[in-house]
Amino acid sequence: MTTGKSGVKKRLNELRALIREHDYSYFVLDRPLIGDFEYDQLFAELVALERDNPDLVTPDSPTQRIGAAPLESFEKGTHRRPMMSLANTYSVDEVREFDERLKKFLDSDKPITYFCEPKFDGLAVELIYENGKLTGALTRGDGVVGENVLSNVKTIRSVPLFLKGDYPSLLEVRGEILMLKKDFARLNEQQQEAGEVTFANPRNAAAGSIRQLDPRITARRPLRMYGYAPGVIEGLTVKSQADWYERLASFGLPTVATEGKKALAKICEGLDEAVGHYENILKLRHELPFDIDGVVIKVNSYPLQDRLGAVARSPRWATAAKFAPEQATTVIEEIAISVGRTGALTPYAVMTPVRVGGVTITNATLHNQFEVDRKDVRVGDTVIVQRAGDVIPEVVEVVLNKRPPSAKKFKMPSKCPVCDHEVVLPEGEAVTRCVNVFCPAIINESLKHFASRRAMNIEKLGDKIIEQMTEHKLVQTFSDLYRITKKDILTLPRQGDLSAQNLIDSIDTSRNTSLGRFIYALGVRFVGEQTAKSLATHFKTIDAFLETSESQLLEVEDIGPKVASSIVDRLGDSGFRKEIKKLIEAGIEIEKPKKTSGKQPLKGMNIVITGTLPVPRDEIKDQILALGGKSSGSVSKNTSYVLAGDEAGSKLDKAQELGVPVLDWDGFQKLIN
Ligand code: IVH
Repeated sequence: MTTGKSGVKKRLNELRALIREHDYSYFVLDRPLIGDFEYDQLFAELVALERDNPDLVTPDSPTQRIGAAPLESFEKGTHRRPMMSLANTYSVDEVREFDERLKKFLDSDKPITYFCEPKFDGLAVELIYENGKLTGALTRGDGVVGENVLSNVKTIRSVPLFLKGDYPSLLEVRGEILMLKKDFARLNEQQQEAGEVTFANPRNAAAGSIRQLDPRITARRPLRMYGYAPGVIEGLTVKSQADWYERLASFGLPTVATEGKKALAKICEGLDEAVGHYENILKLRHELPFDIDGVVIKVNSYPLQDRLGAVARSPRWATAAKFAPEQATTVIEEIAISVGRTGALTPYAVMTPVRVGGVTITNATLHNQFEVDRKDVRVGDTVIVQRAGDVIPEVVEVVLNKRPPSAKKFKMPSKCPVCDHEVVLPEGEAVTRCVNVFCPAIINESLKHFASRRAMNIEKLGDKIIEQMTEHKLVQTFSDLYRITKKDILTLPRQGDLSAQNLIDSIDTSRNTSLGRFIYALGVRFVGEQTAKSLATHFKTIDAFLETSESQLLEVEDIGPKVASSIVDRLGDSGFRKEIKKLIEAGIEIEKPKKTSGKQPLKGMNIVITGTLPVPRDEIKDQILALGGKSSGSVSKNTSYVLAGDEAGSKLDKAQELGVPVLDWDGFQKLIN
């Protein structure tokens, strides 16, 4: 326990410095030093200390990244120097012309030294650091005037609130805000689960997040930022783009000089090297963790850039060598509707199968009626499709001159396609919903969510078997699952003695769970995994959670009015409460939220997991974290052990190459016991 004001101050400073350092290692260097669990604990300690000592909260505390109140609107801000745009080139020939133009302008035949870097597909911002402190963040806007999104940018953990090293008195850094493909996929999954609208691609998700008036929402969005260009600088002369990248790194600002072992941003001597780099990056495109749509080729020397100047609104010294987007043309055969766990009706296009970027696409979500209207997609239309974020199929546009005369506008049905109940579209919302609590689609999807890995984790209860169970009326509610017998299961088609027993066993095992998982499993609208965890930490018991009120909920970290009112609504439903009671009576055992005082046999160890193991990887990770260790994705000389299951591949080879000890499952069990 920390006592006395000076003791508290000291600990606060320690915690803040530690958290800043961990943010830097994780987000900027991509080399985490501790696991999420340990990090969360440091953060929780800081939050608690600040809560008890509000007079000691400083504006630069890591907690303040998430604290700012919602804005009415964004203030405008004028860029000290306008943010220009880049001229585009679409072929090697055009890049060659660019190079020749420059040589002519400079009246020289000498090869030009270029600096080539990815063209990020996000949105541009300018960060302003005065005396090392982040004091402004402007969107590009029209290039002259942008919007001040400082409170939102502050929530991006890779953006330092303070610079490191020998920074100048004024430093403006321009760069791109984006979302990693994996973070985008996860966010969309969460949005879907929470019954919220999903984003079409990582760029839209990033743009939508940064233009949120409520910074608390932005704080929950996994945004990244990479710096690439200087604005106005006072007190420092930068010689070249390569020099600039080094400076950025020295100030603790994130860039993408490298990705894994591959140089993404590099000096290229002359046109041919630049074209070579372009071609390399093009090949790597799909493996990169973020979307790019080309390579920016810049004259490396800043004095030379100054000599070259600009034409209209683009610098003469740079070109964006764009990649051809990976698109294909196909025909819409049907616009079908799926009904989700929250009753949301989602229209999706069923198309003639077509290959795009190496995979065959047949379905693409159309999100909601407004999206269908905006693109005016109709059955029979020929459309251009692409994979958003290189993953999710998306209808880009309709080829209007190929539209059959008979094609009719799509209209959302007024009845649920699954249960025929009326649907509703509340005023001001985008999502049409089926409101029949007995809708088989809602029941099935709710049960699938309940049983899913991050919820109750009923391993053997797959989607097919759930559908069979509900169809045969064996199961209608969550608690029914805990009452069925092996004999019941054997009445279903294709069920043998062994599979039935395994299913019963896995349902049985799921009875032991945590409060967070349990609340998440209940599938309350807007209550995703993270929110469920916060609720569990706050209320500690299911009874306390059941007795909560709207005002109490608003005190819980991360919970705003929308989520609070959704929870209160659900808890006010007597059927829902009865169901929870039934679950408890059916023997659900909720363990208390864990304290960390237990044994830490893996303290300081970093364990990489590879191959197929008897337990899902997420669970092993949680276990490693709980025992004081951490688990990273790639093997290096700092790896303590590689835990290798069946069919382990390159990570195992790497371990052997580096002499990192390898454990099998039994070896791992010995280590932790
Ligand atoms: S340099 C004067 N570097 O491209 C050019 N821009 O068309 C200053 N962009 O709005 C920008 N990646 O959003 C630069 N590596 C990169 C970039 C990049 C993406 C975007 C940026 C800007 C647009 C300019």
